[in-house]
This record gives sequence, C-alpha cells and structure tokens, in this order.
Amino acid sequence: MVRHFLKDDDITPKEQAAILELASEVKASPYKFRPFEGPQTVALIFDKTSTRTRVSFTVGVADLGGNPMVIDTGVSQMGGKESVADTARVLERQVAAIVWRTYAQAGLDEMAANSSVPVINSLSDDYHPCQILADLLTIKEHKGALAGLSIAYVGDAANNMANSYLIGCAMAGMHVRIGAPAAYAPAAHIVRRAEEIAAETGGSVTVYGNPEEAVVGADVVTTDTWISMGQEAEKQQRIDAFAGYTIGSALMAHAKKDAIFLHCLPAYRGYEVSAEVIDGPQSVIWDEAENRLHAQKALMIWLAKHAH
Ligand code: CP
Ligand code: NVA
Repeated sequence: MVRHFLKDDDITPKEQAAILELASEVKASPYKFRPFEGPQTVALIFDKTSTRTRVSFTVGVADLGGNPMVIDTGVSQMGGKESVADTARVLERQVAAIVWRTYAQAGLDEMAANSSVPVINSLSDDYHPCQILADLLTIKEHKGALAGLSIAYVGDAANNMANSYLIGCAMAGMHVRIGAPAAYAPAAHIVRRAEEIAAETGGSVTVYGNPEEAVVGADVVTTDTWISMGQEAEKQQRIDAFAGYTIGSALMAHAKKDAIFLHCLPAYRGYEVSAEVIDGPQSVIWDEAENRLHAQKALMIWLAKHAH
C-alpha cells in the first residue's frame, strides 16, 4: 500500500524517529541514496508562493537521482479547470511522487485518494509537516535528543505551523507549550489529538493565554508569521490582535539560558520576532532552513521504500 504524508501523524512516532535518523545519514552522505534513479520525475506543485520549499525539494529530488518538475498551478489546468482527482490520475502514470503546496487540506486528501504514488503536503492551510521534520532535526542536532524537551510556540496558534508543532512535537515526546490570544488558540480537535499522542510518548500539551507563561523554562522558542498566505486581507486586525506577542529579548529571558530560537521563515522582523532575537546568538534559523533539504530527502527515500 502506498504511503502519503499529508499531516504529521500520517507516520507513527517510531517512523518519525526513523526518518530523522535517516535525515542525519543523508546529511552526512548527500549523494548516497538514489531512489529516483532513472531519472524518475517528481511533481512539485505550487498553489502558493515559496522560496525554501521550492529550492529544497528541487535540490533534494535531483540529489536523489531524480528529475524535479515544478508546476505552478496558475499556468496549469489545475484549479477551476480540471479536478484534483483527474490531475492525480494523469500524474500517477508518469511521476514517482507528488509534492503539493496548497490551500485546503481536502485537496490533498482527494489527490492522495486518487494517486498510486506518494503524495506529500508541502504546506496547506492546516499543516506544514515537512517543516516540522526539519525543525525536529535541527533541535536534535543542537540538543542531542528530543523526548522530554519543552518547546514554546508563541503567536498565531490557529495556523498550519502551530498545528504541526502540536502534533509533530508531541509525537517526538516533547512538551508543547502554546502562548496565544484566545481568538487565535489552536482548534480543540488538534489539541485533543496532540494530547492523545503525548499520552503515549511521554510528552504534554499546555495552552496559555499569554506569551510569558508559555516560554518559561523552554528549551526551544519558536513562532511564525501572524499573517499566513491567504490571510492578507486580515492584516491590520491580526497585527492588533497580536500586540504584546513579539518575541524579543525580554521574552526570551524567560526561557532556559541555552534555549534555541526557531522560525520556519519567511520572518517579519518587528512583528512576530525582534531583529535582535532572530539575528542573535540563540537563533538557529539557517540550520533549520538547510535542514528542510535533508529531512525531505529522508522522507522521500522512506516513502519510496514503502510505496510498493
Ligand atoms: N518555510 C517555508 O516553507 O518557506 P517557503 O514558503 O519559502 O517555502
Ligand atoms: N504560516 C505560514 C507559513 C509559511 C511557510 C503561511 O502559511 O503562510
């Protein structure tokens, strides 16, 4: 049976750990693994803009012996013109995997339901699971292990990154601490799912209504833009709602002394994070951005192995 990666818990905690192990191996030997030898083609579909995802998947597929084919939906028949199901049926005959950045999660579900090749979510409105694999790899590199560490996510906790942190970090046995205004707290079903996972892995989930409490004693502090792609019309309303949620030096001081700072990028200095913090000594954002490449290569190798 083909395996897809549409959300963080489409793999088990054990499988997540195995993929992260493999990512370190891939990072050490970038050209050793050739699952797409042929070269086979991997479709990289973008409904939204991207720098890191476009670059890391293009480089990653090439490194794995394959041919990356970027499809911008604006210049394809996808969208209003042709259904997702029909697109999947065309693609599965010719490509080894489909990587898709899109809006609604339902589109990914439809693509996967009609595809005999792995479908990977490279960001939807609901999840950004590839980013979380890269973040976990980065934390592991800097802290040695994941289980038992606490990660504080401050800001828009109702977005794709927050959802993926909640589920993906709970899978790794981490303590996930959210600090968000009530109107941007995570959805109840996401918190429930993360708690369910944490109960099995030894992690935990706590949601606070302010940034300080979330950050106290954290090993990792992270945030994301207050205005995700597709929410541009709500810009001013969101900037007002997140007043006091900027991660600056004073807030970072509540975390452990050796805490690291993560941000999936792109970042908006002066809004969700100060320049002092994101460009400061605790920030490991460039390692994190590079690790997109290694984590996604490991994911593709793993999925290719499980696709028969
Ligand atoms: N973090 C991330 O997914 O970046 P891009 O939007 O540039 O791909
Ligand atoms: N939450 C952000 C992440 C960007 C990588 C967005 O969806 O725009």
